[in-house]
Amino acid sequence: MNTVYLNGEYLPKDRATISVDDRGFLLSDGLYEVTPAYCGRLFRIEQHMRRLQNSLDALRIVYDPKGLPEVHSRLIAANALDTEDVAVVYVQITRGVAPRTHHFPPEGTPPTVYAFAQVYHRPESARWELGYEAITVPDHRWARVDIKAIGLLPNVLAQQAAVDAGVADALLVKDDVALEGSHNNVFAVLNGVVTTHPATQRILHGIAREYVMELARAQGLPVEERPVLLEEMRGAEEIFFTGTTTEVRPTVRLDGEPVGDGKVGPVAKALYEAFKVGTQA
Ligand code: PDD
Repeated sequence: MNTVYLNGEYLPKDRATISVDDRGFLLSDGLYEVTPAYCGRLFRIEQHMRRLQNSLDALRIVYDPKGLPEVHSRLIAANALDTEDVAVVYVQITRGVAPRTHHFPPEGTPPTVYAFAQVYHRPESARWELGYEAITVPDHRWARVDIKAIGLLPNVLAQQAAVDAGVADALLVKDDVALEGSHNNVFAVLNGVVTTHPATQRILHGIAREYVMELARAQGLPVEERPVLLEEMRGAEEIFFTGTTTEVRPTVRLDGEPVGDGKVGPVAKALYEAFKVGTQA
């Protein structure tokens, strides 16, 4: 039985119900976070909670998240996910239940808080080592994608385009700049430099992105945060995506063309190994 959290209660998923007047449902008026747990241990929960607080502040949703780490741990335990190599906890906070208006509901309307935990299946090593394909998709999102808002329609359409093309990832491109994936950040290795878009309003500030930059620096690799043109991406030695539900995923073909020599490169390999070791520690 899948145990979820809803507004202060732990209950079986099939008993968790939300009003049709929920502003998340009617208006996508809410935000979310996804935090990984490795063998039951939450990874970088402080950073995830800080980002969640930033999203709350940006959307002006009044909610004190101090109890959320405990909710995360209890969901992991209640669903017997402590023994899994990787699990993820999803939490969503909306502006609550009220008759539909564009402006905020009356002050004091309680936010809706929903959370669930589920296993994440890492790919087999042999599969990972073959590498993955990606396609480019125009970025049709709004101008504040640093906020982890639940309105993900352009991301959904981009990822479906990838699925329709039979590939793993969608690389979002705006003004000729390769920004990030539909649900992950992107890195390129350019003349030996591990390069990724700076943490501006044009990308989600990924926790895995930050961790991978730390791992790269620890290995003595040069790291640079700067916008990368799609044209540069096409000539990169390596491309890889990072994220909570991506970890480190190497791209060996972009829009059908080989990346570098068309094989998974040494930087992606070294960083994925370090990522797996570091998160299990
Ligand atoms: N996605 N960019 C986008 C657009 C994302 O949605 C995500 C995360 C990331 C990577 O962030 P992190 O490293 O903190 O997971 C980058 C989550 C996992 C999701 O939507 O399910």
